[in-house]
Amino acid sequence: MMNRAQAQNVIIEHAPAVLPKVNYLRLQNKKVLSVKHLYKSYNNHSPVLSDINFDLHAGEMVGVIGRSGAGKSTLLHVLNGTHPATSGEILDYPDVGMPRDVAVLRGRELNRWRSKCGMIFQDFCLVPRLDVLTNVLLGRLSQTSTLKSLFKVFSQEDRARAIDLLEWLNMLPHALQRAENLSGGQMQRVAICRALIQNPSILLADEPVASLDPKNTQRIMRVLSDVSEQGISVIVNLHSIDLVKTYCTRAIGIAKGEIIFDGNPALLTDDILHKLYGDEISQLH
Ligand SMILES: Nc1ncnc2c1ncn2[C@@H]1O[C@H](COP(=O)(O)OP(=O)(O)OP(=O)(O)O)[C@@H](O)[C@H]1O
Ligand SMILES: [Mg+2]
Repeated sequence: MMNRAQAQNVIIEHAPAVLPKVNYLRLQNKKVLSVKHLYKSYNNHSPVLSDINFDLHAGEMVGVIGRSGAGKSTLLHVLNGTHPATSGEILDYPDVGMPRDVAVLRGRELNRWRSKCGMIFQDFCLVPRLDVLTNVLLGRLSQTSTLKSLFKVFSQEDRARAIDLLEWLNMLPHALQRAENLSGGQMQRVAICRALIQNPSILLADEPVASLDPKNTQRIMRVLSDVSEQGISVIVNLHSIDLVKTYCTRAIGIAKGEIIFDGNPALLTDDILHKLYGDEISQLH
């Protein structure tokens, strides 16, 4: 597999055909998001996220770690706009034009942002009685007219792309199967296809391997890593330090709503892990 250093000067040729080919040289240091002094409180209680600051660059694969209740899921929800920020800025850097604060978006603009900053939820959020292909196509809804989406009319182009994505993730044989009959690993792959069909520049994944066996875990992490190598920035909440060290280019450690580590996963020392997990450290792997 090509590593990042080798990829610097070339246009990726081994890219899955379903993802747009990108030029790493152009993308490498491209800032896609800047989070500044972000706070989040629920119901006027004390903040769950306090003064969160970080920049995100194209193609990074960021593992977010921290004990249960630290604020990892909240961070993803606020970035994607599912939960409104209490204060602070989330600056999006579009390919053309000035950065804009997506934390203030509402209505249609917010929906557009949610497509650009796709999210894979822990419980997959598939429609159980619909088939796999339709579940993937549902990702296109925000870009489809209301009438067409009401009758689930999707363009040939969308269908072809959904099929390509399913093929890439070895899910094509299940395309017409109801989502409710899939295994956890298969559901997760469908959820990834549904997020990718929106052409996101950022992909957020909240504990995507929480309910998977080791083989499916490695498979899903490999897919997310491939996605990030195509220039899409991936932020993934994980409870496994091993997975962060194996697959992520960067780790962000959160404790009580504050970032206490942001850097290369190789630099996650026992001391830092102890600060992040306290006595729960013995349960980590
Ligand atoms: N919708 C909500 N309303 C009120 N409080 C919430 C809501 N969502 C999360 N919280 C609270 O915010 C805090 C952080 O929760 P969050 O789910 O972000 O943690 P987490 O790091 O993802 O934990 P876990 O590892 O268990 O998933 C917790 O105290 C939680 O109870
Ligand atoms: Mg969580």
